[in-house]
Amino acid sequence: MIKREIIDQIREQTDIVQIISEYLPLKKAGRYYKTLCPFHSEKIPSFHVSPERQIYHCFGCGAGGSVYTFLMQYEKLPFPEAIKKLASKLGITIEEDKSQYRYQALYDACEFAAKFYADALENSKLAIEYIKHREINQDTIKRFRLGYAPSGNLLFNAAKKNGVSEENLIRAGLAVKKEDGCHDWFYKRIIFPVFSIAGKVIGFGARALDANTEPKYINTPETPIFKKGANLYGLYQAKNYLYQNIPILVEGNFDLLSLVNQGINNVIAPLGTALTLEQALLIRRYSNQLIIAFDGDVAGQTATFRTIEILLKANNDPHVIMLDDGFDPDKYIKTYGKEKFNTILNNNIDFIDFILKIKPTSSVTDKCLRLKEILELISLIGENVSQELYLNKVSDLFKVSKDTLLNQIQRDRKTANSSSNPTKTSNQLIQNMAEKQVLPLIVSIPEYALIAKQEIPYNYFASSEIQELIKTIYENIDLENFSSAKLIDLIDKSEMKQLVADLSFQTKTIPTKIEFQRKLRTLKAAWYYKAMNEAKVKGDFNLLEKLTLEHYNLKKNLSQKRSAYNEK
Ligand code: GTP
Ligand code: MN
Repeated sequence: MIKREIIDQIREQTDIVQIISEYLPLKKAGRYYKTLCPFHSEKIPSFHVSPERQIYHCFGCGAGGSVYTFLMQYEKLPFPEAIKKLASKLGITIEEDKSQYRYQALYDACEFAAKFYADALENSKLAIEYIKHREINQDTIKRFRLGYAPSGNLLFNAAKKNGVSEENLIRAGLAVKKEDGCHDWFYKRIIFPVFSIAGKVIGFGARALDANTEPKYINTPETPIFKKGANLYGLYQAKNYLYQNIPILVEGNFDLLSLVNQGINNVIAPLGTALTLEQALLIRRYSNQLIIAFDGDVAGQTATFRTIEILLKANNDPHVIMLDDGFDPDKYIKTYGKEKFNTILNNNIDFIDFILKIKPTSSVTDKCLRLKEILELISLIGENVSQELYLNKVSDLFKVSKDTLLNQIQRDRKTANSSSNPTKTSNQLIQNMAEKQVLPLIVSIPEYALIAKQEIPYNYFASSEIQELIKTIYENIDLENFSSAKLIDLIDKSEMKQLVADLSFQTKTIPTKIEFQRKLRTLKAAWYYKAMNEAKVKGDFNLLEKLTLEHYNLKKNLSQKRSAYNEK
């Protein structure tokens, strides 16, 4: 935790113009500096920096904020890292009160274990032999902090000697309590530390050394700092490569390490589970495209299909490379080398071609089925432009007019909407259209809940039940790994638990953050109109005046609000 005063102090001592001009060519234009916006594509500069107010704002895409938000957005840094970066430029040392981090003890336990496992790897002939046989080089071992978990509860014993408590070891998923005492969770396995985006070790994957041990992989169980569905293997190491290169999504840890080993650094992998929407949204922070490179067998194709759906829902444009049956990226690059792998990477296909490749298309019936599947996927895409491009392609491929395709999508949407109508409970509780649109997002996507928290007070929601729910979300959203599942556990009323579950299932397409903010503002405006009307009816003109002024200020302050949430 960094003290609020330090954060303010650093901001006050920094000149936003100077910092941004280290990244972008700023040109003076009257009271502002201007340049092409780095956050959306444009031909005429609409990105403005104000030296007076020490903020930036893009009139094109709405990006904006303080010097901190700029570093966070541009360098993809978490807030504390942005602060540290500026502090080091200014020569300020930050005293961090580590004890204030809620889960610091768990991070410490993981860090201790990572060091312990890395040392153990250096001392285990067996493990070194295995890594050698997988052809992973020293550089990669160090960068990914690979390790080895020996048997004999050695981690547990070493931890105790070094002041890591049994309780924290267990809470971090590194030890389990059994009848005969506490035991290491991992033993006789190659260890793959999993990093947070900021580079902290939060958990581990672990592979058996021999082919006979089942299961092949064991992971850290879910802990307060480790959630499989919310993190990606290799993202911390890959993130700086993702500006220039489209991320490659592989299935296995060894696929990832093999590619990195050969200098292909833009690789990420799920943590042994199917890709989740949360992970897809995490990827979209870095890129709106992605190349799926899964195993070349039927299981790999099925997984690819599912992943395409999730990525489209997150407004990410998935492409695919298809390896021959029996190959995964690891085996492929070892067999054919980097150049050949790059060639197939460059020959990636979009999701439509992928479907047409893996499924039959010869008969009219087949064609109808494929068309239906593809249209369903296209209707998941939120961005109008790429949806249009894909529709053009389908129209050409199937020789069906675009109007017919659009009609079909409209019809599918209608049936989908009527079948996924909110249940009776939520219909009673949610009173207006704007709420209906934002609630599913607030409930199921922590990032969006945070935006809502900054954008709209909980008492602007119509019913007292929903207000209560939103209040609970706002109060707990700063918890690491907040999720709708956790939220459900935080609520007492079973009716509201149901509502949250119901809402969590309603997110179909995810709007962009800017679209989401727009929806929140509609909601806020609706509240003001209602309140102003009530004041009018009551004849309370003092209140009416106050509300009118607030409403006016609200409209005026929107851009500043946006920067405020980025900073928190
Ligand atoms: P190698 O066989 O060593 O090449 O493994 P790999 O890393 O290529 O993994 P594989 O393609 O077999 O599986 C993909 C990923 O799924 C792995 O990296 C693990 O994260 C996960 N996984 C595989 N097997 C298991 C298992 O038995 N249990 C669990 N929990 N996860 C597994
Ligand atoms: Mn493999």
